Amino acid sequence: MTEREKRSRGEKWKNKRAQSPGRGTLKQRVKTARRRSASSTNWLGRQLNDPYVAAAKNAGYRSRAAFKLIQIDDRFGFLKRGGFVVDLGAAPGGWTQVSVERTSRVYKTDIPNVLAIDRDDMDPVTGARIVKMDVLAPDAPTLIKQYLSGDVRVVLSDMAAPATGHRQTDHARVIALCETGLALAMDILAPGGTFVAKVLRGGTEHELLAEMKRHFGAVRHFKPQASRSDSAEIYVVATAFKGC
Ligand SMILES: C[S@@+](CC[C@H](N)C(=O)[O-])C[C@H]1O[C@@H](n2cnc3c(N)ncnc32)[C@H](O)[C@@H]1O
Repeated sequence: MTEREKRSRGEKWKNKRAQSPGRGTLKQRVKTARRRSASSTNWLGRQLNDPYVAAAKNAGYRSRAAFKLIQIDDRFGFLKRGGFVVDLGAAPGGWTQVSVERTSRVYKTDIPNVLAIDRDDMDPVTGARIVKMDVLAPDAPTLIKQYLSGDVRVVLSDMAAPATGHRQTDHARVIALCETGLALAMDILAPGGTFVAKVLRGGTEHELLAEMKRHFGAVRHFKPQASRSDSAEIYVVATAFKGC
């Protein structure tokens, strides 16, 4: 094969990889270590071979979850310049980074237009205000309102409680977090606003869905490609808030 042919083959291969992260890379196998459990070996193997983990690292995102919000917003288009966003369950900060990127004003002011809330610590993100808080605490809505500036256009909830492995318990916890997010969204969203929340496959509870449909113009379920196919998570996207 001539040098020219070799170069052209290499270019073609690189272009293919950019279109589909991880394609063409060799799968890495993880050896079981004495002190590593089978489940953490599986987790490590999945991380090492996950194209979104590598893509997040390359793009400077703190989590692969950033691509889920990118894909949800590419589909529904609710993150607009200047719109105030409340991000619930924000740590480590992938969704916050994407929200800042997509909503920060061209002429930056000192007032952040993303409020990122988590019960865990979270490193600062330029353009966002970070608040450590348990959203389930009774005084959370009052405290959150003190941090708002301008019309809230979007409320995001990627909140998740640690999985117990007991299906009904995990489902009930996810629904409780979604209910809390919805109650807050209905309290603070400006008319026309959007609420996005993580739920589990099988959809949203009947009553919760009915409540959303009463107060929003459209309610749809969406599973972004970046959400692992073996995960039961799915997102509910409620747009065109009608007000209470
Ligand atoms: C899947 S992670 C969020 C990932 C994030 N969207 C990102 O892009 O990096 C879920 C987060 O929800 C938070 N969380 C769960 N329950 C919460 C609660 N009651 N109040 C505040 N945060 C909560 C957890 O601490 C965790 O950081």
